[in-house]
Amino acid sequence: MTGQNERVNERKPWVVGISGASGTPYAAAVLRGLLAADEAVDLVISKAARLTLLDETGIAFRDAQWKDDLGAWLSSPVTGDVRYWPVSDLAAGPSSGSYRTKGMVVVPASTASVAGIALGLSKDLLQRAADVTLKERRRLVVVPREMPLGRSTLVHMLALHDAGAIVAPASPAFYTGATSAQDLVDFVAGKVLDLLDVPHELFRRWTGELQAGRLSARAELRSGAARADQA
Ligand SMILES: Cc1cc2nc3c(=O)[nH]c(=O)nc-3n(C[C@H](O)[C@H](O)[C@H](O)COP(=O)(O)O)c2cc1C
Repeated sequence: MTGQNERVNERKPWVVGISGASGTPYAAAVLRGLLAADEAVDLVISKAARLTLLDETGIAFRDAQWKDDLGAWLSSPVTGDVRYWPVSDLAAGPSSGSYRTKGMVVVPASTASVAGIALGLSKDLLQRAADVTLKERRRLVVVPREMPLGRSTLVHMLALHDAGAIVAPASPAFYTGATSAQDLVDFVAGKVLDLLDVPHELFRRWTGELQAGRLSARAELRSGAARADQA
């Protein structure tokens, strides 16, 4: 029988599914945020996501060397609690509801994954893990990246919402005073972490004051430039 202490110490990861939509920087920022918050992560990368990763970062991700490749991608050695499952492994932990997880995020989510999860296709481990997350009534955050959206994707997004998932499109905002592409990426990643109740400092929150983000970003840029002048 499972003792009380064993249950308290039980590993309960977030499953992070990366599918083949453009937007691997979003996935990297979410992974960094989870690991920075000491969350355990179970990682699943779809076959198509290897193409987007290769295209957007130059990294050819390998199952056998996943730790090295993940470290290269995140620009730091993987020291946190990460377990990697090949996407073809339908016997992997996250394929069963009895495997404990906190929930799952699919980031970025291709329209194919949005459809597959909405329809319960479970064509690979990523889709099966998402289906399990829904059936177990755990948190599922799906981050679609496509534009414009076709009718079938819109219908599948509504089906996901109705099934209990949170559809959180990769849709950066500008009120934080973003001054770089990374700021825009971090906004999306931060919103995803908010939805998982994971603490982060990836963006300046709305203060209730118009232009506060823009003015403080400008002040920060000025003080950065002054520091550079003095150096
Ligand atoms: C370089 C590249 C970029 C792509 N970008 C997108 C995208 O932004 N959104 C999308 O829905 N599909 C995109 N696709 C198409 C998907 O990868 C394709 O539909 C694939 O079947 C998705 O499979 P998966 O959901 O199993 O990862 C892209 C494909 C490639 C090769």
